[in-house]
Amino acid sequence: MTVREILKMGDPRLLRVAEPVTEFGTPEMEQLIADMFDTMHAANGAGLAAPQIGVNLQLVIYGFKQNARYPDAPQVPETVLINPVLTPLSDQQDAAFEGCLSVPGLRGLVPRWSSLHYEGVDQFNEPISRDVDGFHARVVQHEVDHLLGILYPMRITDFTQFGYTDVMFPDLDPNDDD
Ligand code: NI
Repeated sequence: MTVREILKMGDPRLLRVAEPVTEFGTPEMEQLIADMFDTMHAANGAGLAAPQIGVNLQLVIYGFKQNARYPDAPQVPETVLINPVLTPLSDQQDAAFEGCLSVPGLRGLVPRWSSLHYEGVDQFNEPISRDVDGFHARVVQHEVDHLLGILYPMRITDFTQFGYTDVMFPDLDPNDDD
């Protein structure tokens, strides 16, 4: 079990555009993905992008059955998504609160596409193609933004809805990293 350090907002490595993955099934890739799951689970995260641990590749993981940081969220299948492409399915957007392991202690209201189609491959270079909405759509957009060097505060439009988690959501478990 290897929990890697998660970079925090202000680190320029979080602002890079990630490189496509070109090699699959290597021991390095296997180790990276295992470390990312260990790191995400240790932090109770809903998702994690490789750039958050300083690896500048187009690789994100996400998914959970029940998540302490988002107790009301429906389950999202555990997924490794590589070289993703997102396409919104309509013009409709929803706003909901997000946090980020790279922005500890804060939450903000973020508008996102309500539903979208996404494609990419998994760690075995097998295709992934899904139409999703709700929290699943939000998680994918948040994680894929990390591959573009975008952190959720850059998406906030109403800064009256941005603040400390323990102030805005005092009922959330204070043992959560954020
Ligand atoms: Ni994040």
